[in-house]
Amino acid sequence: MQLNQRKAAIIGCGFVGSATAFCLMQSGLFSEIVLQDVDKDKAEGEAMDITHGTPFAGRMKIYAGNYNDMMDAAVIIITAGANQKEGETRLDLVKKNKKIFEEIIPEISNRDYEGILLIVSNPVDILTYTAIKISGFEENRVIGSGTVLDSARFRYLLGKHLDVDSRSVQAFIIGEHGDSEIAAWSSVNVSGIPVNDFCEMRGHYDHEEAMKAIADNVKESAYKIIKRKKATYYGIAMSVKRICEVILKDEKAILPVSTMMHGAHGIEDIVLSMPAIVGKNGIETQVPIELNEEEERKLKQSARILKQMIGIKKD
Ligand code: NAI
Ligand code: 2OP
Repeated sequence: MQLNQRKAAIIGCGFVGSATAFCLMQSGLFSEIVLQDVDKDKAEGEAMDITHGTPFAGRMKIYAGNYNDMMDAAVIIITAGANQKEGETRLDLVKKNKKIFEEIIPEISNRDYEGILLIVSNPVDILTYTAIKISGFEENRVIGSGTVLDSARFRYLLGKHLDVDSRSVQAFIIGEHGDSEIAAWSSVNVSGIPVNDFCEMRGHYDHEEAMKAIADNVKESAYKIIKRKKATYYGIAMSVKRICEVILKDEKAILPVSTMMHGAHGIEDIVLSMPAIVGKNGIETQVPIELNEEEERKLKQSARILKQMIGIKKD
């Protein structure tokens, strides 16, 4: 089926799905958005509410639909599934959400969908792996939102610390989107200036202490938000919008998305986040980034944790 490059579909219209739809509506990237949820009323209600914003954003169709309606969408975004309750980790969601994916993914692959699957539901790395395996789709077109959100949190906090626009901060969180994630400090820079040099330029000399506080803050962000308002959704909605933009505009921008590992850093047959070039065909290639020994060790540990969760033997 011919894909409509101006069409997206969102499966799961809870906090994340509806915030994403609202964000995409405002972005003008798409002219048609299909919303689907097992709770059909929820999908219909969200479609109606979001549509009422279009007179301020531009003409587009947003409606509740079914799987047949989404087969020509350039991107199908999956946000269906349970979210974390206070005290739960993302990995605690694996059983429930894997079961949901075992229902959703065949609905898409049995219809020979040819576009890009963007996985957001948690645990995102494991569910992206599940989606690749169940669908049999080429790995480049099954993308997890991965640590795009964590890296945004990282850049935001660094920008605040250094009193500089976070868009000038190049910084990646890699590995699991979750508790074993790694702040890749070795490659952090502000417009090419190594982070420690920039810190000193801005009057900060407490590198060790500041680095730890910032990395911990990134890792704890979701827990802090969930404790206060039960769910996170605006940051991820903007992250999904950015991933869609990169795909639609064939930007070939570098994003830390969840991708299948094939031997880089000695890691294979597991999905986790590494910076990758993303464009109209999804993931083009991973980008090697410099890691010090400690970062490399933590990355391998993150892969080991994810492998254990999906029952694959340790490497
Ligand atoms: P929510 O509970 O508000 O919404 C989930 C929605 O999925 C519900 O409307 C439910 O009816 C729907 N659903 C369940 N089974 C379905 C099925 N088989 N088909 C279609 N729809 C189905 O949860 P929320 O807060 O929207 O979170 C959704 C997921 O996104 C969670 O797994 C959460 O952990 C994850 N998330 C991921 C982030 C990331 O960075 N990757 C960031 C924030 C949340
Ligand atoms: C987040 O990082 C909970 O994965 C979600 O906001």
